[in-house]
Amino acid sequence: MSEPASTRKPDPGRCRVCGNDVVKFLDLGRQPLSDAFLTPKDIGHEFFYRLAVGFCADCTMVQLMEEVPRERMFHQDYPYHSSGSSVMREHFAETARRFLETELADTDDPFIVELGCNDGIMLKTVRDAGVRHLGFEPSGGVGRLAASEGIRVREDFFEERTAADVRGREGTADVIYAANTLCHIPYMDSVLRGVDTLLAPNGVFVFEDPYLGDIVERTSFDQIYDEHFFFFTARSVGEMARGAGLELVDVERLPVHGGEVRYTLARAEARPPSPAVAALLAEEAERGLADPGTLEAFANRVARHRDDLVALLRRLRAEGRTVAAYGATAKSATVTNYCGIGTELVAFVSDSTPAKQDRLSPGMHLPVVPPEVFAKARPDYALLFAWNHAEEIMRKEEDFARDGGRWILYVPEVRVV
Ligand code: SAM
Ligand code: TMP
Ligand code: ZN
Repeated sequence: MSEPASTRKPDPGRCRVCGNDVVKFLDLGRQPLSDAFLTPKDIGHEFFYRLAVGFCADCTMVQLMEEVPRERMFHQDYPYHSSGSSVMREHFAETARRFLETELADTDDPFIVELGCNDGIMLKTVRDAGVRHLGFEPSGGVGRLAASEGIRVREDFFEERTAADVRGREGTADVIYAANTLCHIPYMDSVLRGVDTLLAPNGVFVFEDPYLGDIVERTSFDQIYDEHFFFFTARSVGEMARGAGLELVDVERLPVHGGEVRYTLARAEARPPSPAVAALLAEEAERGLADPGTLEAFANRVARHRDDLVALLRRLRAEGRTVAAYGATAKSATVTNYCGIGTELVAFVSDSTPAKQDRLSPGMHLPVVPPEVFAKARPDYALLFAWNHAEEIMRKEEDFARDGGRWILYVPEVRVV
């Protein structure tokens, strides 16, 4: 058995999928960990790394140039709670229902394994159906929330070694599923060998992550941060699958989290690919998503959006307006640190997550406060960091707009609404 994936030192500048050269096209500078919300005693002890993105000319995979050690990001105090959004709760209930009606309906004793089950947002529905399941969740705090609700959780990273262990104890899985998690895992070689070991002969490996096509189209550069190591396309996922004896057999675009794609992989030649695969591949070719020029143009737009946003915030402050922010997202670490948005431009950030409240945002140290404080303070403007939850948040905060408050958005363009 090979050593755990995390202990092997990666070769910088080498593609983590195919091993060829990765060429940098965007540098967002020195950045803190995106989910490391600080207490005052943490100031001065923050971990920083270089956030730059590159492109593999061989397999086309877009990826970070530097890996942050996984234990720094995913640990007991990992603060992201998936169930904080009602839209996402419904999305994952529907996802689980679909598995239960299709892949998990055809076998006697179906088994589904989830990577990054977090607080159990998806597996809850599987548990209710009495179907055998296991959630991998290395972040103990959120994993325990799932376990306390009767969901089976293994507090561990998914990789070749842990996958083989599950296979030995519990047999093969009909579905291996990962939402907003596969793109978090740089040691893809180990993960794919783990999938190969654990997946049933006719099983499926399904994952959904932010789609490079949407990121480029919307210039949503804040999708780039320590935890998001890979930025997938149908083309790059297809190449990755091929290299692992798997095949991309279906794709589905999803509206959640600012635009994602759900990819379905099966063992090579086990299932015919759906027409959606060829259609998305053709669309990507047409858009030039694998052309370096497209990515360079994206990088130029990123710099322009930064300049536009900073100019707007400076103007508002010069006019004496009060500005706060909404949603202490991991994404906002990139925006605030890349644009240099500190308390002189934005007074505080409102967030509903208890684990983030009364802390300071990573790097720029904006105070994070509960929504009640936001409601009371009634700033003139609110910079919406959680733009991917815009509808849900604007509905919740309709009093703010009714009383004359204005939202500032920066995706796909900087604008006030
Ligand atoms: N699936 C949930 C969702 O979509 O809301 C949670 C997504 S959260 C952004 C990513 C999760 O992946 C974290 O809870 C983290 O602890 C977990 N994770 C990170 N590396 C992992 C690995 N190697 N195996 C399994 N889970 C992992
Ligand atoms: P996400 O974009 O990574 O899902 O993070 C969303 C953040 O926004 C998370 O910290 C929770 C917060 N949030 C609110 O404060 N109020 C809300 O209504 C929603 C949906 C999210
Ligand atoms: Zn490559």
